[in-house]
Amino acid sequence: MIEKFRTLEYKDNKVLLIDQRILPVEFKIYECKDYKDIEFAIREMVVRGAPAIGATAAYGVFLAYKELKNNEESFKKACEFISLARPTAINLKWAVDRMLAFYEKSKHKENCEKLLLNLAKEIQEEDLQSNIQMGKNGLAVVPQNATILTHCNAGALATAGWGTAIGVIKTAFYANKNIFVYADETRPRLQGARLTAWELTQAKIPSKLIPDSAAATLIRDGKIDLVILGADRIAKNGDVCNKLGTFALSVICKHYGVPFYVAAPISTIDFTIPDGSYIPIEERTADEVRFIDGVQIAPLEMDVYNPSFDVTPHGNITAIITEKGIIYPPFKENIAKYKN
Ligand code: MRU
Repeated sequence: MIEKFRTLEYKDNKVLLIDQRILPVEFKIYECKDYKDIEFAIREMVVRGAPAIGATAAYGVFLAYKELKNNEESFKKACEFISLARPTAINLKWAVDRMLAFYEKSKHKENCEKLLLNLAKEIQEEDLQSNIQMGKNGLAVVPQNATILTHCNAGALATAGWGTAIGVIKTAFYANKNIFVYADETRPRLQGARLTAWELTQAKIPSKLIPDSAAATLIRDGKIDLVILGADRIAKNGDVCNKLGTFALSVICKHYGVPFYVAAPISTIDFTIPDGSYIPIEERTADEVRFIDGVQIAPLEMDVYNPSFDVTPHGNITAIITEKGIIYPPFKENIAKYKN
């Protein structure tokens, strides 16, 4: 079953995004008519999730070209503007760089605009296909009866479709495995409560939503067979950056001997950095923590620390499920095999 919705779509000269800020209460489409709208949509998390951000940014480069093709300097500045919308997920820079490298090769061609649009569509389609393949590869690590814990949202909404971690879970479920999922609500933006819970209920996968702090008890009590979650950036040594809370989960899993899997496309690996300490961690606003859906829950004068991501050391990771295969330790040696 492929979802009935499309996370992103290019139609009538606009990029159409599901507005992930208001799901599941409302299902609304957000229209991006130019590259500034794309930058806003990424920065303000209308669209979020590393691969979805990458695919959206690719269309952003195309829209920037359409608008600024007679001024190369402004076009390149616009591309940089898009790539800086959020700092952590490597897919954003990866997609902009790929579009720009292609632009350099095609800029003297008459149909450059069309070629750039085609490449953006290709990046989107490649992501969907790689998720489908990742799901099939992941079957090998999901037992016939499995209770799985996931964090944040690494589903169709976070990608061009199907999802990475949720893609593996759905593939196992549709392969008739007996799956039960616990979804962390994922404070402060509640991607688990709002988005993963929405996707799991749409797909009719037996599941329960839990407050983040319930995970440790479930793991200690032997209620979780494995954890599967996504990644925003993976270093050459296998350190994984993902939504805040991932690191804590990995420590608890290691303590209790529960397998801890990361599902991500090869494009999430940053082959330029030796380890996770080089990954820029986005800090978001204090009001994300002080308010929930516009309702104040903490004193306005209270200072807040709100890092959006954390880094899980590779020693806490059982394996990384990719579209090209499952990468096991030793990660440094095994990840190097995927550098093209
Ligand atoms: O801040 P977000 O919602 O963009 O963070 C998303 C995550 O951390 C996901 O787990 C990650 O991007 C993987 S999505 C396939």
